[in-house]
Amino acid sequence: MEQKTDLSEAEIAVHWQEEGYYQPSTSFIAQANLTDPDIFKRFSVDNFPECFKEFADLLTWFKYWEKTLDTSNAPFWRWFVGGRINASYNCVDRHLEKYRNKAAIHFVPELEHEPVQHVTYQELYVRVNEMAALLRNLCGLKTGDRVTLHMPMVPELPITMLACARIGVIHSQVFSGFSGKACADRIVDSGSRVLITMDGYYRSGTMQDQKEKADIAVKDAAAEGYKVDTVLIWQRYPGKYSSPQKLVEGRDVIVNDALKHYRGARIEPEHMPAEAPLFLMYTSGTTGKPKGCQHSTGGYLAYVTWTSKNIQDIHPEDVYWCMADIGWITGHSYIVYGPLALGASSVIYEGVPTYPDPGRPWRIAEELGVNIFHTSPTAIRALRRAGPDEPQKYNFRFKHMTTVGEPVEPEVWRWYYEHVGKGAAVIVDTWWQTENGGFLCSTIPALNPMKPGSAGPALPGIYPVIYDDDGNEIPRGANRAGNICIRNPWPGIFQTVWGDPDRFVRQYYERYNKKKGSTDWRDWPYFAGDGAMQPPDGYYRILGRIDDVINVAGHRLGTKEIESAALTVPEVVEAAVVPVPDEVKGRVPDLYVALKHGIKASRELEEKIAKAVITEISPIARPRKVWIVPDMPKTRSGKIMRRVLAAVSSGKDAGDVSTLANPEVVAELRKLAEQTKV
Ligand code: WTA
Repeated sequence: MEQKTDLSEAEIAVHWQEEGYYQPSTSFIAQANLTDPDIFKRFSVDNFPECFKEFADLLTWFKYWEKTLDTSNAPFWRWFVGGRINASYNCVDRHLEKYRNKAAIHFVPELEHEPVQHVTYQELYVRVNEMAALLRNLCGLKTGDRVTLHMPMVPELPITMLACARIGVIHSQVFSGFSGKACADRIVDSGSRVLITMDGYYRSGTMQDQKEKADIAVKDAAAEGYKVDTVLIWQRYPGKYSSPQKLVEGRDVIVNDALKHYRGARIEPEHMPAEAPLFLMYTSGTTGKPKGCQHSTGGYLAYVTWTSKNIQDIHPEDVYWCMADIGWITGHSYIVYGPLALGASSVIYEGVPTYPDPGRPWRIAEELGVNIFHTSPTAIRALRRAGPDEPQKYNFRFKHMTTVGEPVEPEVWRWYYEHVGKGAAVIVDTWWQTENGGFLCSTIPALNPMKPGSAGPALPGIYPVIYDDDGNEIPRGANRAGNICIRNPWPGIFQTVWGDPDRFVRQYYERYNKKKGSTDWRDWPYFAGDGAMQPPDGYYRILGRIDDVINVAGHRLGTKEIESAALTVPEVVEAAVVPVPDEVKGRVPDLYVALKHGIKASRELEEKIAKAVITEISPIARPRKVWIVPDMPKTRSGKIMRRVLAAVSSGKDAGDVSTLANPEVVAELRKLAEQTKV
């Protein structure tokens, strides 16, 4: 693997001290779902894969499955083979008898004067059914079709997802902050002829025009030769259209108007095979093209339900708030599918955590009686920076808190523990990825002590291994950095890359495969793409990506995607992106570009290039700085040495540059860095 920019990150991490342990409180343990230490024995490798029956048994099956794991077409694993199930039934219908009148969703609009909306399980049932009827009858959608959603954080998003699941339609939700162009790429790749969006939503106090992005998405998809025939538009305020964009005759449909024709409709949930795809979630990887991770119905749902119950410690009577966006995997697994499968009350907050001030999350927690809180290190850092003393002003009490998405610095962890958790809540630091469906490493909250900055041991039934670059196993507890892999399949693992099974094998299974064509799972370790190390206590510390992925504020972006965006500007001839450490966001991208011969650098051009990144991807990908450079540092074989650029960006020593074809360029870059002083 060429790119080694994150090696420096590994080096830094090694210098983190080993932290002391924090014990879970006795009051937490007294009420916890999982307190039986035998769990690790039950899930020992000798009991694999049958141990996962315990996961599947949390669900209601129309037809019970026959085979736990089929490896005959490895590494395309099939879980709970022969089973028939429906995700919408499991998240909605089966709770009605007991929890009909209980809130499934608490929706908190960003504008604080707007009342919170409480959607009961009964109401969710009615709305999901009516929407399913609309999708089937108005759009003619049927089992196996794909639909792209480009929706903000509103209850209509899970309603739409569950309506799709009810009729076996595969949903592909694109993060609402992504551009119309990024949405178009995902429409084309997934083959969706229906796009579902909302007219607008609030962000930092202003109404965003989301419909405009739908128009761009349809136009850009058409330019790629792909036709979207229907755009369904929910209204943020039913009865009032909030976008300045005109509706397109014959294509655009206002959902809440059309739903009037389906009042009272009830749609029998499809009995889907356990391995039927439930959804696609696009994510960034090593090439410019985002890949659609295809998740299954039975295995995925079993995995997120068990982990929600035992790692998130969700009981039906809890009020659970995950601040992630449903546009990312965390939101799918731990706002929608996991919590709702357990009959919990899940909070959906529309907006920015620090709007209108950094006390907002704590007021929401106080008002709704939230007792389980789930967020990212970036959000914790931002809240801490903007209002370190805010949490103690409010009367809320968490029993449990989660962090996900990035490594959390011990100092930030301690603020979270002491100020937000008020010294009483347990914390789980959960490591996993879009591809994984659910958590891979985390402490079990009542059984394992916490260690700041460390994700903890592997979950029951997950057997990780750390390899060095040459494929040797790094001994357990050796505390040496290497590439973390998972030896075994698990029910939440994605099934394939949509439309590109070769890429699935190449990227995740080829690297450490022991025998080509083998049908033994032991020959197919899953390659995660993260660096990690394991001290003697067995807790994993995740060091960050070892590939071309940058984790910006917990958003996973491909350096190649940003580079391709820069290359759409005609003046640019070469582009390279490197990650730079940032106090709040963890990492931010710096973009280096070389211009075509004869073209002069200018501020306007820098701005034009930054704008191209926003239009092609999203404002979250905006470079911290666009560096127009006379030449890129290159190896003799012509590869751009990103390691050198990363060193310049973060003001570090570039190390050995003798292998460069043009070592003199390093001094020029340094001069440029000094002049611009970022
Ligand atoms: C990183 C998010 C350290 C990691 C669920 C991984 C983490 C990438 C942690 C996946 C953690 C996630 N500690 N790093 N607890 N959790 N990561 O696909 O580099 O958006 O590969 O999934 O985030 O990001 P993704």
